[in-house]
Amino acid sequence: MAHRTDAAHGLCAHRGAILHFRSDPGTHDDRESFEFFDDGLLVTADGQVASIGPARELLSALPTDARVVEHRDSLLMPGFVDTHIHYPQTDIIGTGGRQLLDWLQNHTYPTEGEFADPAHAREVAEIFLDELLRNGTTTALVFCSVHPTSVQAFFEAAAARHLRMAAGKVLMDRNCPEYLRDSPETGERDSRELLEAWHGRERLLYAITPRFAPTSSEAQLASAGRLAGEYPDALIHTHLAENPDEVAWVQRLFPQARSYLDVYDHYGLVRERAIYAHCIHLDHTDRARLAQSGASAAFCPTSNLRLGSGLFDLKAADAAGMRFSVATDVAGRRSFSMLQTLGDAYKVAQLSHQHLSPLRAFYLATLAGARALGIDHRIGRFAAGMEADFVVLDLRATALIARRIARSRTLAEKLLALLSLGDDRAVARTYILGRQAHARAASRSGSAACT
Ligand code: GUN
Ligand code: ZN
Repeated sequence: MAHRTDAAHGLCAHRGAILHFRSDPGTHDDRESFEFFDDGLLVTADGQVASIGPARELLSALPTDARVVEHRDSLLMPGFVDTHIHYPQTDIIGTGGRQLLDWLQNHTYPTEGEFADPAHAREVAEIFLDELLRNGTTTALVFCSVHPTSVQAFFEAAAARHLRMAAGKVLMDRNCPEYLRDSPETGERDSRELLEAWHGRERLLYAITPRFAPTSSEAQLASAGRLAGEYPDALIHTHLAENPDEVAWVQRLFPQARSYLDVYDHYGLVRERAIYAHCIHLDHTDRARLAQSGASAAFCPTSNLRLGSGLFDLKAADAAGMRFSVATDVAGRRSFSMLQTLGDAYKVAQLSHQHLSPLRAFYLATLAGARALGIDHRIGRFAAGMEADFVVLDLRATALIARRIARSRTLAEKLLALLSLGDDRAVARTYILGRQAHARAASRSGSAACT
C-alpha cells in the first residue's frame, strides 16, 4: 500500500527502554510473545524502523554522524491502536444518559447532525487528531457521521499529518432522526465513491460502516454486504451486542435471525477485517462463529462501564478462540487515553473474577489492534521495514508514577503502574513515520525531534 514519500528523512536512533509484542502473551505471559530491552535502541530511517536491539550492540554500528535521541526514564512502544472511536462525538465526551439508547437519542444524534456543515467537520477532525496524538494513539478505526463530507474532512486531515487511519461513512436509513438518514441507494453510492477515493491512498483505509442493525433496513444491510464482497480488503465496522435493550430490539426487528450476530452474518458482514464494537451479550455459538470467521471484537471497557452496558467476558472470548483488541469508544467514555482504557479493562476483568495481565493489556492496545485491521505487517510492532509510529511513555510523568515505578521490580509491575496511574500526562512524545508529531508541554524544551 502506498504512503507518502515526502515524509522521508534520514537515520535517527532513539535510546530508552523498549517493549513490543510478537504475538498474544495470553493468560500466562508467554515469554516468546514480547521483546523487551531495558536499555534499547530503536533506529529509524525514511519513516521506517531500520533496526531494534540492545543499545550497547547497536550504538557501535551506527554511522558516526547518526543522531541519537536519549529518552531517559522512558518506555518506547509502538503507537497505540484504538479500534473503535467516533470522531463526531468529540464534543459530547463526558455527557450522561440513562443507557445506550437514551444517550444516542439525546446526545449522540443531535451532535452528529452538526456534521452536515463541512467547516464544522474539518474543525473537529483536527481537534480529534490532536487528542489522539496527545494520548499516544497513532492509528484508529473511526466512525464518521452519515454525511460523506465528514469522511472527506477526516481523511484530508489525517492525510495532511501522514497518519495511518481507517474510517467510514455511517450507514443509517431508519429508526433515527430524519436529518441523519440516508437511503440504501445513496448510502451505497456514497460509500463506494469514498472507498474508491480513499482506500489505500496515502496511509488510509476505508471501513464499510453500518451504525448498527437497528438503524439499517434489510435493503441497506444487503447493500453493505454487497460492498464488503466487492471490496474484500476494505474493513467492516459496526456495533454488536452492547446493551440488553438493544439486543431485544434487534430480536424484534429481525425475528428470523438466530442472534444479533446472525443478522450481520446473513448479509455477508462477518469476515476477516470486520470489527465489532462491544460484543458483550453473545452466546457460545456467536463467539465460535466470530473466531472461525477471523472477525474481531473491540473491547470498550470504559464506555461499557459508563453506559452500564455490561462486562466483556475475556475468558469466554479466549475459550472460543475469538480475536479482540481494546478501544476507547469516545464518546461513550470520558477520555481518549488508551492507558486509562487499559486501567478499566483490568477492572472489568477483576469484576468478572478474571485476570488481564498488564503485558497482555499492552498487547491488546498495540499489536492486537493492528491485527484486527489487517495491517500488522505495517504497524503494531517493531521490525525492520515496519512504519515507525511510536510513543514515548514517561516513567516519571507524575510523582506517584515515579515512586511506584521506582519500587517495581518486574516489567509487569511497571506496566501495571502505567495503566493504573497513567493518562495523557504519561505520553511524553508521539512519533509518526519517525517524526515527532506530539511533545507534551513539559517535554518541548528538550530536543528529541528527528526531522
Ligand atoms: N450503537 C449504535 N451507535 C452507537 C454509538 O454511537 N455509540 C455506542 N457506544 N454504541 C452505539
Ligand atoms: Zn461506538
